[in-house]
Amino acid sequence: MLVLGLETSCDETAAAVVEDGRRVLSDVVSTQVDIHRRWGGVVPELASRNHIVQVLPVVHEALTRANKTLDDVDLIAVTSGPGLIGALLVGVQVAKGLSLATGKPFVGANHLEGHLLAIRLLEVAPEPPFLGLVVSGGHTSLYEVQAYGQYRLVGSTRDDAAGEAYDKTARILGLPYPGGLPIDQLAQQGNPEAIRFPRALPGDNFDVSFSGLKTAVLHHVQKHGVPQGQALADLCASFQEAVADVLSKKLVAAARRLGHKQLVICGGVAANSRLRALCQARAEERGLNMFLPPVRLCTDNGAMIAVAGYEAYRRGLRGDFRLAADPAWRM
Ligand code: KG4
Ligand code: ZN
Repeated sequence: MLVLGLETSCDETAAAVVEDGRRVLSDVVSTQVDIHRRWGGVVPELASRNHIVQVLPVVHEALTRANKTLDDVDLIAVTSGPGLIGALLVGVQVAKGLSLATGKPFVGANHLEGHLLAIRLLEVAPEPPFLGLVVSGGHTSLYEVQAYGQYRLVGSTRDDAAGEAYDKTARILGLPYPGGLPIDQLAQQGNPEAIRFPRALPGDNFDVSFSGLKTAVLHHVQKHGVPQGQALADLCASFQEAVADVLSKKLVAAARRLGHKQLVICGGVAANSRLRALCQARAEERGLNMFLPPVRLCTDNGAMIAVAGYEAYRRGLRGDFRLAADPAWRM
């Protein structure tokens, strides 16, 4: 079964062709980061307008690279939430239009389910049940994936998402948006023990909090000025250590308590080098199986939406022309 996956929930216009929910034939991502960077974050209205410009060329490119036409596609899957309403609407309307023009079915997919199920695109992929941590710019949530379509939220952030903490910290440090990659790269040259930043919410819960960490960085900068050179690398490394330490500890603790042997991290922050290394090491120490998606599948893409749409379709879900974008869709 050939699925065309379409993603326009935030600032990436993406389309992919995926076979049977497992094999990626093409995966095209057109990012708008250069447009939003000068504003220091995503401007919703600019995002919608640029999706409108990019979406059909991106779909065309995905089909061309897969050496397919719309006639070959069996299902159109589109992110219908959560995300920015105007941005989501572009994808949803395009999916409806393509469905109407071709007579092919379409289905609305949940963006978070997409991140969680991107792991199915690995050659060796876990079958449910597994424990999945979604860490992105908009979300930091821990789910028990009991079966496809059955997700239980067991923990989440009480304030900022992990990616948001990265982006806000980058802003304080004068680094470009989005802040995850620049901080990650600087952190690799720095000393993670240079500054002891706070770890919030220790103890017997699976929630996290990052606003205190962000404020600690702000206070540090107010006191000492914006660091440069090695001091900047040290601050980035210390911040990154605090984020990765808390997330990996909570993930492994939840696995032990809830009796999971298979762990997944996903979403943009799952691209982080230190988070990946710490999760891997802590899982190994306890004999748990850690699955890490390749970096390309961590950030927003159409392939993950094709997988989520494929699984939703197999569960019997069908989109119809009343399908609405839901910016706050809870899984
Ligand atoms: O999943 P994603 O592409 O979009 C959302 O659904 O939010 O995640 C984007 C987030 C941004 O906050 C970005 O700074 C962060 O992922 N990110 C990273 C890294 N690469 C991207 N955070 C930490 N380390 C990275 N290497
Ligand atoms: Zn995302």
